[in-house]
Amino acid sequence: MSKFIALIPAAGSGSRMGHELPKQYLSLNNKPMIYHAINTLWQSRLITRILVILAPGDLEWFKYDWSQFSEKLTVLNCGGITRAESVLNGLIAAKQKDLVQSNDWILVHDAARPCLTSIQLENLIKELAEDEVGGLLAVPVADTLKRSNASHRIIQTESRESLWQAQTPQMFRYDLLTQALHNAANANITDDASAIEALGLHPRLVLSDAYNFKVTYPQDLALAELILQERNNL
Ligand code: CTP
Ligand code: MG
Repeated sequence: MSKFIALIPAAGSGSRMGHELPKQYLSLNNKPMIYHAINTLWQSRLITRILVILAPGDLEWFKYDWSQFSEKLTVLNCGGITRAESVLNGLIAAKQKDLVQSNDWILVHDAARPCLTSIQLENLIKELAEDEVGGLLAVPVADTLKRSNASHRIIQTESRESLWQAQTPQMFRYDLLTQALHNAANANITDDASAIEALGLHPRLVLSDAYNFKVTYPQDLALAELILQERNNL
Protein backbone atom coordinates (compact mmCIF):
# COMPACT_ATOMS: atom_id res chain seq x y z
CA MET A 1 0.00 0.00 0.00
CA SER A 2 1.28 3.46 -0.87
CA LYS A 3 1.68 5.75 2.10
CA PHE A 4 1.00 9.49 2.22
CA ILE A 5 4.06 11.43 3.35
CA ALA A 6 4.23 15.18 3.81
CA LEU A 7 7.42 17.09 2.99
CA ILE A 8 7.73 20.70 4.13
CA PRO A 9 10.56 22.68 2.54
CA ALA A 10 11.56 25.19 5.22
CA ALA A 11 15.04 26.22 4.21
CA GLY A 12 14.20 29.61 2.70
CA SER A 13 15.32 32.97 4.07
CA GLY A 14 12.08 34.89 3.49
CA SER A 15 13.84 37.75 1.68
CA ARG A 16 10.59 39.40 0.55
CA MET A 17 9.38 39.47 4.14
CA GLY A 18 12.33 41.63 5.09
CA HIS A 19 12.94 40.19 8.57
CA GLU A 20 16.24 38.85 9.76
CA LEU A 21 14.47 35.78 11.10
CA PRO A 22 13.37 33.48 8.23
CA LYS A 23 9.59 33.83 7.85
CA GLN A 24 8.82 30.23 8.81
CA TYR A 25 9.80 31.17 12.38
CA LEU A 26 7.96 34.49 12.62
CA SER A 27 5.36 34.47 15.35
CA LEU A 28 1.81 33.75 14.21
CA ASN A 29 -0.79 33.29 16.94
CA ASN A 30 2.01 32.77 19.46
CA LYS A 31 3.58 29.94 17.46
CA PRO A 32 6.31 29.92 14.82
CA MET A 33 4.58 30.07 11.42
CA ILE A 34 5.64 26.56 10.40
CA TYR A 35 3.82 25.12 13.43
CA HIS A 36 0.45 25.68 11.77
CA ALA A 37 1.26 23.72 8.59
CA ILE A 38 2.74 20.89 10.64
CA ASN A 39 -0.32 20.82 12.89
CA THR A 40 -2.79 20.51 9.99
CA LEU A 41 -0.74 17.78 8.29
CA TRP A 42 -0.24 15.95 11.59
CA GLN A 43 -3.99 15.88 12.24
CA SER A 44 -4.65 13.94 9.04
CA ARG A 45 -5.07 10.22 9.76
CA LEU A 46 -3.82 9.44 6.25
CA ILE A 47 -0.47 11.19 6.61
CA THR A 48 1.94 8.86 8.37
CA ARG A 49 5.09 10.99 8.32
CA ILE A 50 6.04 14.65 8.06
CA LEU A 51 9.51 15.50 6.78
CA VAL A 52 10.70 19.02 7.55
CA ILE A 53 13.61 20.20 5.42
CA LEU A 54 15.75 22.82 7.16
CA ALA A 55 18.75 24.80 5.99
CA PRO A 56 22.03 23.24 7.13
CA GLY A 57 23.07 24.99 10.32
CA ASP A 58 19.56 26.18 11.16
CA LEU A 59 19.49 26.32 14.97
CA GLU A 60 16.24 28.26 15.29
CA TRP A 61 14.13 25.11 14.86
CA PHE A 62 15.60 23.61 18.03
CA LYS A 63 14.48 26.55 20.18
CA TYR A 64 10.91 25.26 20.15
CA ASP A 65 9.27 22.19 21.64
CA TRP A 66 8.00 19.91 18.85
CA SER A 67 7.44 16.86 21.06
CA GLN A 68 3.65 16.84 20.53
CA PHE A 69 4.30 15.87 16.89
CA SER A 70 7.24 13.54 17.48
CA GLU A 71 5.64 10.25 16.46
CA LYS A 72 5.29 11.47 12.85
CA LEU A 73 7.94 14.19 12.57
CA THR A 74 11.40 13.84 11.00
CA VAL A 75 13.75 16.81 10.61
CA LEU A 76 16.34 16.77 7.83
CA ASN A 77 19.01 19.49 7.71
CA CYS A 78 19.63 19.25 3.99
CA GLY A 79 17.96 22.31 2.45
CA GLY A 80 19.45 23.73 -0.75
CA ILE A 81 19.86 27.06 -2.51
CA THR A 82 16.44 26.88 -4.17
CA ARG A 83 13.09 25.42 -3.09
CA ALA A 84 13.40 22.72 -5.75
CA GLU A 85 16.82 21.76 -4.42
CA SER A 86 15.51 21.62 -0.84
CA VAL A 87 12.69 19.30 -1.91
CA LEU A 88 15.00 17.06 -3.95
CA ASN A 89 17.61 16.86 -1.16
CA GLY A 90 14.84 15.99 1.28
CA LEU A 91 13.51 13.24 -0.98
CA ILE A 92 16.96 11.71 -1.38
CA ALA A 93 17.74 11.88 2.36
CA ALA A 94 14.38 10.33 3.26
CA LYS A 95 15.04 7.37 0.97
CA GLN A 96 18.52 6.90 2.42
CA LYS A 97 16.93 6.73 5.87
CA ASP A 98 14.33 4.24 4.64
CA LEU A 99 11.48 6.59 5.47
CA VAL A 100 9.84 6.41 2.03
CA GLN A 101 9.26 3.96 -0.76
CA SER A 102 9.17 4.45 -4.51
CA ASN A 103 5.42 4.30 -4.80
CA ASP A 104 4.52 6.47 -1.80
CA TRP A 105 2.66 9.71 -2.35
CA ILE A 106 4.67 12.80 -1.35
CA LEU A 107 2.69 15.91 -0.41
CA VAL A 108 5.03 18.89 -0.68
CA HIS A 109 3.69 21.79 1.37
CA ASP A 110 5.23 25.24 1.90
CA ALA A 111 6.06 26.14 5.50
CA ALA A 112 4.70 29.56 4.56
CA ARG A 113 1.08 28.40 3.98
CA PRO A 114 -0.16 28.30 7.57
CA CYS A 115 -3.88 28.50 6.75
CA LEU A 116 -4.27 25.18 4.92
CA THR A 117 -7.39 23.47 6.25
CA SER A 118 -7.95 19.78 6.95
CA ILE A 119 -10.83 19.86 4.47
CA GLN A 120 -8.60 21.15 1.64
CA LEU A 121 -6.00 18.52 2.50
CA GLU A 122 -8.46 15.60 2.62
CA ASN A 123 -10.04 16.80 -0.62
CA LEU A 124 -6.68 16.85 -2.40
CA ILE A 125 -5.88 13.33 -1.26
CA LYS A 126 -9.33 12.01 -2.14
CA GLU A 127 -9.23 13.54 -5.65
CA LEU A 128 -5.72 12.31 -6.48
CA ALA A 129 -5.21 9.01 -4.65
CA GLU A 130 -6.06 7.05 -7.81
CA ASP A 131 -4.55 9.54 -10.27
CA GLU A 132 -1.87 8.49 -12.75
CA VAL A 133 0.14 11.70 -12.43
CA GLY A 134 -0.82 13.59 -9.27
CA GLY A 135 -1.60 17.26 -8.84
CA LEU A 136 -1.99 20.23 -6.55
CA LEU A 137 -4.37 22.62 -4.85
CA ALA A 138 -5.04 25.71 -6.93
CA VAL A 139 -7.49 28.59 -7.36
CA PRO A 140 -8.80 30.14 -10.59
CA VAL A 141 -7.36 33.62 -11.14
CA ALA A 142 -9.86 36.27 -10.01
CA ASP A 143 -8.25 39.56 -11.05
CA THR A 144 -7.93 41.00 -14.55
CA LEU A 145 -4.42 40.36 -15.80
CA LYS A 146 -2.25 43.00 -17.49
CA ARG A 147 1.05 42.45 -19.27
CA SER A 148 3.41 45.43 -18.94
CA ASN A 149 6.52 46.78 -20.57
CA ALA A 150 9.61 47.82 -18.61
CA SER A 151 8.12 51.21 -17.71
CA HIS A 152 4.96 49.65 -16.25
CA ARG A 153 2.72 50.61 -19.18
CA ILE A 154 0.14 48.05 -20.25
CA ILE A 155 0.95 46.28 -23.48
CA GLN A 156 -1.96 43.91 -23.34
CA THR A 157 -4.78 42.53 -21.21
CA GLU A 158 -4.46 38.76 -20.86
CA SER A 159 -7.48 36.52 -20.71
CA ARG A 160 -7.77 34.89 -17.29
CA GLU A 161 -9.79 32.03 -18.70
CA SER A 162 -8.25 28.71 -17.69
CA LEU A 163 -5.57 30.42 -15.58
CA TRP A 164 -5.01 29.14 -12.04
CA GLN A 165 -2.80 30.13 -9.14
CA ALA A 166 -0.79 27.15 -7.93
CA GLN A 167 -0.78 26.43 -4.21
CA THR A 168 0.49 23.56 -2.10
CA PRO A 169 0.28 20.72 -1.11
CA GLN A 170 1.48 19.37 -4.43
CA MET A 171 1.12 15.61 -4.49
CA PHE A 172 3.18 13.23 -6.63
CA ARG A 173 4.57 9.74 -6.25
CA TYR A 174 8.11 9.52 -4.86
CA ASP A 175 9.88 8.14 -7.91
CA LEU A 176 8.17 10.44 -10.40
CA LEU A 177 8.81 13.56 -8.32
CA THR A 178 12.44 12.68 -7.63
CA GLN A 179 13.08 11.96 -11.31
CA ALA A 180 11.34 15.16 -12.37
CA LEU A 181 13.30 17.36 -9.94
CA HIS A 182 16.56 15.69 -11.01
CA ASN A 183 15.82 16.49 -14.63
CA ALA A 184 14.81 20.07 -13.81
CA ALA A 185 17.88 20.69 -11.66
CA ASN A 186 19.07 23.72 -13.60
CA ALA A 187 15.68 25.06 -14.63
CA ASN A 188 14.26 28.06 -12.83
CA ILE A 189 11.17 26.44 -11.33
CA THR A 190 9.21 27.62 -8.28
CA ASP A 191 6.97 24.63 -7.70
CA ASP A 192 7.00 20.85 -7.99
CA ALA A 193 4.33 20.61 -10.67
CA SER A 194 6.57 22.56 -13.10
CA ALA A 195 9.13 19.77 -12.91
CA ILE A 196 6.45 17.17 -13.65
CA GLU A 197 5.14 19.29 -16.55
CA ALA A 198 8.66 19.39 -18.01
CA LEU A 199 8.36 15.59 -18.40
CA GLY A 200 5.37 16.18 -20.68
CA LEU A 201 2.83 15.16 -18.00
CA HIS A 202 -0.29 17.06 -16.95
CA PRO A 203 -0.83 17.37 -13.18
CA ARG A 204 -4.43 17.82 -12.02
CA LEU A 205 -5.63 21.08 -10.48
CA VAL A 206 -7.80 20.51 -7.41
CA LEU A 207 -9.98 23.45 -6.47
CA SER A 208 -8.90 25.23 -3.29
CA ASP A 209 -9.59 28.75 -2.05
CA ALA A 210 -7.75 31.96 -1.21
CA TYR A 211 -7.41 31.09 2.48
CA ASN A 212 -4.51 28.82 1.58
CA PHE A 213 -2.36 31.75 0.42
CA LYS A 214 1.42 31.95 0.82
CA VAL A 215 2.71 34.38 3.42
CA THR A 216 5.25 36.32 1.37
CA TYR A 217 5.12 40.04 2.28
CA PRO A 218 4.80 41.69 5.73
CA GLN A 219 1.10 42.49 5.28
CA ASP A 220 0.35 38.79 4.64
CA LEU A 221 1.29 38.02 8.22
CA ALA A 222 -1.53 40.15 9.64
CA LEU A 223 -4.04 38.50 7.31
CA ALA A 224 -2.92 34.99 8.29
CA GLU A 225 -3.19 35.95 11.95
CA LEU A 226 -6.79 37.13 11.48
CA ILE A 227 -7.77 33.94 9.68
CA LEU A 228 -6.25 31.66 12.30
CA GLN A 229 -7.71 33.69 15.17
CA GLU A 230 -11.16 33.53 13.65
CA ARG A 231 -10.89 29.73 13.37
CA ASN A 232 -9.77 29.44 16.99
CA ASN A 233 -12.81 31.41 18.08
CA LEU A 234 -15.29 29.12 16.30
N1 CTP B 1 12.32 27.11 0.56
C1 CTP B 1 13.26 26.13 0.83
N2 CTP B 1 14.55 26.27 0.37
C2 CTP B 1 14.90 27.35 -0.36
C3 CTP B 1 13.94 28.35 -0.67
C4 CTP B 1 12.65 28.20 -0.19
O1 CTP B 1 12.96 25.15 1.50
N3 CTP B 1 16.16 27.45 -0.77
C5 CTP B 1 10.97 26.99 1.13
C6 CTP B 1 10.58 28.17 2.01
O2 CTP B 1 11.13 28.00 3.32
C7 CTP B 1 9.07 28.13 1.95
C8 CTP B 1 8.76 27.52 0.58
O3 CTP B 1 9.99 26.96 0.11
O4 CTP B 1 8.51 27.29 2.94
C9 CTP B 1 8.19 28.55 -0.37
O5 CTP B 1 9.18 29.48 -0.72
P1 CTP B 1 9.06 31.06 -0.59
O6 CTP B 1 7.69 31.45 -0.17
O7 CTP B 1 9.66 31.66 -1.81
O8 CTP B 1 10.00 31.34 0.71
P2 CTP B 1 11.42 32.04 0.76
O9 CTP B 1 12.24 31.57 -0.39
O10 CTP B 1 11.93 31.81 2.14
O11 CTP B 1 11.02 33.57 0.60
P3 CTP B 1 11.63 34.63 -0.45
O12 CTP B 1 11.44 34.03 -1.82
O13 CTP B 1 10.85 35.87 -0.21
O14 CTP B 1 13.09 34.76 -0.09
MG1 MG C 1 11.67 31.97 -2.43
